[in-house]
Amino acid sequence: MSTKIPVRNPNEISKLRKAGEVSARILMELMPIIKPGITTKEIDDYARELFQREGCGNAFYGYYGYPGQLCISVNEEVVHGIGGSRVIHDGDIVSLDAGAIVDGWYGDNAMTVAVGNVSEEARRLLAVTEESLFRAIEQAKQGTPLSEVCAAVEDFVRPYGFGIVREYVGHGVGRKLHEEPQIPNYRPNYPMPRLKRGMILAIEPMITLGGCRVKVLDDNWTAVTADGSWAAHFEHTVAVGSHGGEILTERPRIALPDQLGISL
Ligand code: MF3
Ligand code: CO
Repeated sequence: MSTKIPVRNPNEISKLRKAGEVSARILMELMPIIKPGITTKEIDDYARELFQREGCGNAFYGYYGYPGQLCISVNEEVVHGIGGSRVIHDGDIVSLDAGAIVDGWYGDNAMTVAVGNVSEEARRLLAVTEESLFRAIEQAKQGTPLSEVCAAVEDFVRPYGFGIVREYVGHGVGRKLHEEPQIPNYRPNYPMPRLKRGMILAIEPMITLGGCRVKVLDDNWTAVTADGSWAAHFEHTVAVGSHGGEILTERPRIALPDQLGISL
């Protein structure tokens, strides 16, 4: 089966971890400014400052002409939202997705932040989406078919009745933002290769409170849910290890049930 998935050695993985750590730090440093009244353009501007301060490259800016420093997707926006005039309000959920390049190595990660008084169902959405990512990461171990990573998201999310976005998927990452393989967030109906230690995966469940269909706005980037339901997105870059995925974009969890005052 597919032999196109790159395998990275420990030296390469330590370089990927540098890029991953910077990517994660940028997200965590953005979090405190995600407050009611700020515009998504102001968030993007602050991200530009953070990338400059880190002295790293930006994996998204200019990618197929992408105009933002990062992706900022609010409420019904699923992914690839571009900073602009939209104002953040109390009760919103804001997905931030950022990627850094360090010495030619790429990191990619995302998280959805709750702003102020968020509804209980939206808090459940965040908690379920973040947890589904961790269930998938557990499966990212040598010898396991990649399909088990994909299935772990679906198996965890399905009982909650949430929508699982199919049009956007996770991916390999390394010397480019997108490498082999593609990583759907559902059990594929075709066989997938077994994982090898040192494969690098960006796993990124995108989950909605409604249906799974999405459409792209006239800016040709912003993907929104077709039914207007709210969506969450969590992503880590991980290296396949012997007991599970080793997270290269390490950062604190932000959507544990306890943190959000709910139980799953
Ligand atoms: N994490 C997303 C992805 O892997 C965001 C990148 S899209 C970009 O597709 F165009 F903004 F770079
Ligand atoms: Co990604």
